[in-house]
Amino acid sequence: MKYIVTSALPYANGKLHVGHVAGAYLPADIFVRFLKLQKQDVIYICGTDEHGTPISISADKEGISPHTVVARYHASIKEAFDGIGIEFDNFSGTAREEHYKLSQEFFTALFEKGHIQPKTTLQFYCEHDKRYLPDRYVEGTCPKCGTEGARGDQCDKCGQTYETTLLKEPRCKICSNTPVIRETRHWFLHLNRFTDQLKEWIAHKDYWKENVRNFMLNLLEQGLIERSITRDLSWGVPVPLADAEGKVLYVWFDAPIGYISSTVEWAKNIGKPDLWKDYWLDPETQLIHFIGKDNIIFHALIWPAMLMGQNTRYCLPHDIPANEFMNLEGDKISTSRNWAIWVDEFVKVFDGEYLRYYLAANAPERQDADFSFRDFQQKVNGELNNVLGNLANRVFAFAIKHFDGVIDHMKLDHEAESILQEADLLVKDICENYRTYQVKRNVKTIIDLARTGNRIFDERKPWVMIKENRGHVQQTLWLCAALLQRISVVLSPIMPKHMLALREMMSLGSIGHWEDAFTDGKYVLNSVKPLFSKIEDSVIEAEYNKLQAMAKPEPTTEYQPLKPEITFEQFAQMDIRVAKILEAEAVPKTDKLLRLKVDLGFETRELVAGIAASYKAEDIIGKSVLMLVNLQARKIRGILSSGMILAAHDESGIHITMPDGGSPGAPVQ
Ligand code: 2FM
Ligand code: ZN
Repeated sequence: MKYIVTSALPYANGKLHVGHVAGAYLPADIFVRFLKLQKQDVIYICGTDEHGTPISISADKEGISPHTVVARYHASIKEAFDGIGIEFDNFSGTAREEHYKLSQEFFTALFEKGHIQPKTTLQFYCEHDKRYLPDRYVEGTCPKCGTEGARGDQCDKCGQTYETTLLKEPRCKICSNTPVIRETRHWFLHLNRFTDQLKEWIAHKDYWKENVRNFMLNLLEQGLIERSITRDLSWGVPVPLADAEGKVLYVWFDAPIGYISSTVEWAKNIGKPDLWKDYWLDPETQLIHFIGKDNIIFHALIWPAMLMGQNTRYCLPHDIPANEFMNLEGDKISTSRNWAIWVDEFVKVFDGEYLRYYLAANAPERQDADFSFRDFQQKVNGELNNVLGNLANRVFAFAIKHFDGVIDHMKLDHEAESILQEADLLVKDICENYRTYQVKRNVKTIIDLARTGNRIFDERKPWVMIKENRGHVQQTLWLCAALLQRISVVLSPIMPKHMLALREMMSLGSIGHWEDAFTDGKYVLNSVKPLFSKIEDSVIEAEYNKLQAMAKPEPTTEYQPLKPEITFEQFAQMDIRVAKILEAEAVPKTDKLLRLKVDLGFETRELVAGIAASYKAEDIIGKSVLMLVNLQARKIRGILSSGMILAAHDESGIHITMPDGGSPGAPVQ
């Protein structure tokens, strides 16, 4: 049996954060490491997703080529993966020649069979920039919920997708002008033509995770629609048709093809250019896509349909273990708000395997999980150090002190024997759970095994028994060492380096096979040192504070409804003048108010302004501002305030309106 395991291709437009890792990469890496220990024929394939409008927008903004953007993030993402031991067999990228060729082949095969057809559609066009504005090149107000700053194809606030031309108050992202609507031609994948084949295929997927299978069944029941798979852009895979100049394939059409093109690259790199076919063209291959739940539709519906419509008989996905999301300190991770833990920064402070352990113990397998620094510290200190590390330390220290570091294989008494048998049954469960992606459960079982070791050590009191019965003590030590040996195998998909270190201390060497868990013998201790180290409160606090400090405020999405219309006469009743600030001082015992003395040309006045949160008294003396001067005077904190300074308020603070010139007293009309 062959396996192709993939993780969703990360966009080469940003760094890697813990949410990505928990959803699509760590679970796949653990699964692959487990299969490799089982000596299965498996390749782990990934690469960066290098197309799509956000990448070309970043490039436009910085005045560099999309290739440069992509190269930068490809390297940064790969480095982050290395930092946490995510080991792909190949990590490619979709802006490579082989990928273009294969993507065009996919399009052509579907086109020639009539599964892809052109249609004239309406699209925003910027007359200033002389270009169409696909997806994120246009921004406006969400037609569903009224939120401002919604993207061309989707609103981040309400999550709805819509036809771009329905966006209200559209603005070009490049020049901010209002675009016009123009006709353009695009190519559509007619998914309904695959309905029967997809139904037949999904009928056998009763072992899928419920969320994925139900999602698919729902879609099939609602009826499949056509999906546009081309865009008016210069960055992307060109549509391989003579009448499609200026059109590229939609990023979601070419991205999954990256799983194959990356495998082709892998085969070439290892000097066996045809080897990829042994995997992709064998109908028995288990193709397994690890993704986050937002990618289900593409992997469970569109991608299988694309594969079904090829002349080449590629294998179809066998399973699509989609994970839920990971939140951060109770809030949704948001890259735009910088509310995220970036992997490259995290591993500069903490051991990458501690992150693996925490994300495995807290995996978002069936429901959203939450990353919290306190919980991370608690798991590392309370479980790795106090339970597993403690077991190794006390057993090894005792064996070194009383038996020169040699733990001989002993015939076990009844109690010890039954504990070992139970442990072996648990190892079998753990094996089954890895097969079914239940990593979180395994972490719990493994730590419980270590707890059992500590309990046995406590109950059998070797420090007392050493005086009476050395044989009893030897059995205790050997049983605990045998548990550690089992743990060193079953925890190794999650913490490979630490488990190798543990094995080396026991002179066991690297694991040849999963079954090594059961090879019992004599344990000779060697260069023993503490397996883990604790995380100090001060380090956790500093990281938590850094996270809070680096977060940006939520952009204003609340749209303040307009006030009722007024007549010109009503407006003209307001007497607004230029006022020059002569004096300013804080109002005692308040932190929002300043007392101002202003020059209106014909007189000076005193007023109280609620601007101290954004302005210091000494910084505004001498400035000219706009002031409503015929507002009824009122007492504020004992000061008679005769007028009001005009200022804009938003989440970033208070912004005083300052006229560009105008002498004190000049009226504003
Ligand atoms: O959501 C994402 O990050 C996409 N770049 C995933 C692509 S997965 C695959 F199809 F390549
Ligand atoms: Zn424009």
